[in-house]
Amino acid sequence: MKKTILLLLLPYAVMAQNTSIKNIDFKADSVIKLMTLEEKIGQLNQLSIEFATGNKDGSAALNYYEESVRNGTVGSFLNTPNLDYKIKLQKIAMNESRMKIPIIFALDVIHGYKVIAPIPLAQSCSWDLKAIEKSERVAAEMASADGVHWTFAPMIDVTRDPRWGRVMEGSGEDTWLGSKIAVARVKGFQGDDLSKNNTILACAKHFAAYGAAEAGREYNTVEISERQLREVYLPPFKAAADAGIGSFMNSFNTISGIPSSGNKHLVKDILKTEWNFKGFVVSDWASISEMLNHGVAKDTMDVARLAMVNQTSDMDMEGMAYIKSLKKLVEQGKVPEANINDACKRILKAKFALGLFQDPFKYFDKKRKEASLKNPEYPLASRDLAKKSMVLLKNDNNILPLKKSIKSIALIGAFANSKKDRDYMSFWTFGAEQKNVINLYEGIKNKVNATTQIFVDTLCGKVDCQQNAIEKAVQTALKAEVVVLAVGENGERNGECRSRSEINLPGNQQALIRAVLKTGKPVVLVLFNGRPLTLKWENDNVPAILEAWQPGTEAGNALAEVLFGDYNPSGKLTMSFPYALGQIPVYYNQLPTGRPLVKPNEMWKSTFSDIPNEPLYPFGFGLSYTKFSYSDVALSASEININQTLEVSVTIKNIGKYDGEEIVQMYIRDLVAEVSRPVKELRGFEKIYLKAGESKKVTFKLTAEDLKYWNSDLVYKADLGDFKVFVGGSSVDVTEKVFSLK
Ligand code: NOJ
Repeated sequence: MKKTILLLLLPYAVMAQNTSIKNIDFKADSVIKLMTLEEKIGQLNQLSIEFATGNKDGSAALNYYEESVRNGTVGSFLNTPNLDYKIKLQKIAMNESRMKIPIIFALDVIHGYKVIAPIPLAQSCSWDLKAIEKSERVAAEMASADGVHWTFAPMIDVTRDPRWGRVMEGSGEDTWLGSKIAVARVKGFQGDDLSKNNTILACAKHFAAYGAAEAGREYNTVEISERQLREVYLPPFKAAADAGIGSFMNSFNTISGIPSSGNKHLVKDILKTEWNFKGFVVSDWASISEMLNHGVAKDTMDVARLAMVNQTSDMDMEGMAYIKSLKKLVEQGKVPEANINDACKRILKAKFALGLFQDPFKYFDKKRKEASLKNPEYPLASRDLAKKSMVLLKNDNNILPLKKSIKSIALIGAFANSKKDRDYMSFWTFGAEQKNVINLYEGIKNKVNATTQIFVDTLCGKVDCQQNAIEKAVQTALKAEVVVLAVGENGERNGECRSRSEINLPGNQQALIRAVLKTGKPVVLVLFNGRPLTLKWENDNVPAILEAWQPGTEAGNALAEVLFGDYNPSGKLTMSFPYALGQIPVYYNQLPTGRPLVKPNEMWKSTFSDIPNEPLYPFGFGLSYTKFSYSDVALSASEININQTLEVSVTIKNIGKYDGEEIVQMYIRDLVAEVSRPVKELRGFEKIYLKAGESKKVTFKLTAEDLKYWNSDLVYKADLGDFKVFVGGSSVDVTEKVFSLK
């Protein structure tokens, strides 16, 4: 009987694959009707190839993967770097499995693919949404040609604790800016049509509040209020969902004791119901099974039950909990089959949206892959974003920019001439072609006059820097007109599972700086790192500091443009750099306290007894080779009603000698509200280009929508009353005005 029904329904499945039926819902339903329970559960199972086998040919493990495809017990793979192997698996799915459902291949494409872009935190410091979108477009073009259908990006966790290694993957401490960047990234990856072969499915992660991990320790607990969740951590996710992102990933953490992979309130109620998200949710790596360790389930059956009853995870990444338990759970009546159908449907819809049912092989395009590797535009896009991401932190006596006609230059430090993995990029760069990286030496050599002497000294390593290496570095410094010291932490020190308890320059690098400074030569410190560092001593002692982050493939070229003034630095920090470790967390949009500090060293005020409250370098801060003056800050009205728009205008003039870009920022503060409101909140910015001597009027618009917050009843609304608006070149360097919402 069953067989006959299947045979009758088969034409619908074929139709779903071959015709252009508009309604993906209908298509997915028509396929699900043909599937056995085991096959539906198979779609919810994701396996990792590379890490599991570490072996490319014919092992038992590989047989297991192939067999799983054949019998329909896997729907997706991650970490399959080999294109031929992906093709092989897809062929098995299409030719040897009963349902012929294409596999969806996933990978962490975090900042570029073969051509590596700067790390996401760096990118955010460009405040250039178009360049960020372009960067993800390039990544999608390259990854899709190599058979990647789905990236586990963007990471849109708001991050306020630089001890957490993953801050490199996000967009910093601000929710509003983070939301704009989230949308740019989704557009870049997914384009306007997911079914095109050069667009890939994006994944909003980690849902949610992973950035609030206690002590910045990876995989750790999160304890935040519902207000903070909704106000600080959720908006970038809501923005990504509204922008049409196709998938979400559970975070590893608990909130109020509930792990995200089983958190009904978070996933089922907020994401799937309140926000009406129709895509699918993948667990993080084994995060469903890890609910056992969290102590909220007693065995594998129990974790699978929790996640599926609560509809909190549609796909189980490498945890095997679903594949081992769901069938039994349905048979025992502990999990409704309808929930499995729902999860399966969400996944099938993504496969339809990607066009995989029409052509399961469309992303495996060796010619396009070859062409993409040679596309000259891609490194240029990476370079463009890298130079826009760099932040000039200090430039006493205008040491920078350097002259190309300089007679001699000493390049000292572990990052001066490196071709080593992860020196100019994070560890999230599985597809990277390390040999293509332009290092600092190469970039500078391409830039300076042929007669310029470049003395390179890389003896002093990131960690290991012996006294004799320091002495040699001093000798090298003495030979040159100017010294560029290239120091930092490489990509193995930040990223997943790379939390640090000290966030200073690792190893003995400070001793190197100290010794080189003693030569009296002008010193430019170029920093390569993936998190805000504590740089109090460096700031006090080194005349010029350029934050280069991990700039990616075009590191050296981008740096040379900045150091020699072909590009005037314009980046502004999106994460505060603490004055000292003990200040953490330190972020600009903090709440006021009942005892705000007005004058330094006042007693009985909210302060430290040994350090200031302010960070060393605040949010929105970054220098330029030129200077900008702000004047004529004006409001179009002193009050508006909830339907009106307030215009906030300001004139910016380039009063220095160089042409350059400025990121003009606008903040607000709700002065009297039902709950205490942050001392400043970003609500607008514009990046403008001004020739030396030129000025421009910038006008921002504010409406009641920009003033809304989650009030004491957790209703999202604006309060009537007075507000401050601040305009300026950083979160601290502002002019303020007051207006009322009537
Ligand atoms: C764990 C990480 O938390 C997540 O961000 C990543 O996408 C997955 N592993 C897959 O590599």
